[in-house]
Amino acid sequence: MINAEELKACCAAAYGNDAVAMVLGESYHPGGLQLSRRLAERTGLRSGHRVVDVASGRGSSARMLAADYDVTVDGVELGEDALRTARDETERAGLRAKVRFHAGDAESLPLPGATFDVVMCECALCTFPDKPSAATEFARVLRPGGRVGISDVTVSGGELGDELATLGAWVACLADARSPEGYREILAQAGLAVVHTERHDDAIRRMVEQIDARIRLLRMTSFGQLHRAGVDVDAVLRSCALAREAVSDGVIGYALLVAEKPG
Ligand SMILES: C[S@@+](CC[C@H](N)C(=O)[O-])C[C@H]1O[C@@H](n2cnc3c(N)ncnc32)[C@H](O)[C@@H]1O
Repeated sequence: MINAEELKACCAAAYGNDAVAMVLGESYHPGGLQLSRRLAERTGLRSGHRVVDVASGRGSSARMLAADYDVTVDGVELGEDALRTARDETERAGLRAKVRFHAGDAESLPLPGATFDVVMCECALCTFPDKPSAATEFARVLRPGGRVGISDVTVSGGELGDELATLGAWVACLADARSPEGYREILAQAGLAVVHTERHDDAIRRMVEQIDARIRLLRMTSFGQLHRAGVDVDAVLRSCALAREAVSDGVIGYALLVAEKPG
């Protein structure tokens, strides 16, 4: 039985793999940077705000927020490879003064309390083994009246089949995903009142289609690279087919939630 620390390390290592970048592209969540902008706007993000991007991955959202909204961003990320890429890309983009990245765990953020206007966490709460601790950390670092914006995979109204619940790192996003109500409850228990919820199930449908199409293309053009990166193409295609079915059945979806810390 894999323990929580192993699970986190495994997830971080998987998302640091370059093959994931080949398949997912710049942004590692359904809806891409367009949905990140929508989430930022729903949190009321304004020029001068201080933002935390929890599980910032390769930093594409953090850089977009700093460049488009004139905010400063502290990204926190567990994966060493993702952190290295995030820092390099940020240096190249000339955004070092506005964006910095910290090695750290969402369940114990290496940041001061009551300091930030907005916390964002995209497609990552679903992967944290201790979601209540992460939500408590979101609340701790926010100033009173600050807002947290989450976008995440949802699983509701049915069980995932065994194969979908156990397939590799990409599917790890599904294994402990909750319903929108489940996320709302976790945030509420941390003292964060949900003020806005939106469904974006189409975004995850498109992401599954994109993964399927890119894997098929890469199988023809870069099979050796996929093989060296440890990607089992047939397994990924099988999980895409199962995921597509689960999205059509309304079991898997994607949601955006905004919650507020009392003023
Ligand atoms: C699906 S990716 C999303 C990355 C980024 N938020 C984005 O949307 O592009 C999930 C990210 O969460 C990170 N992660 C997983 N568990 C974590 C934890 N406990 N603390 C910090 N980061 C974590 C992974 O390393 C990975 O970069």
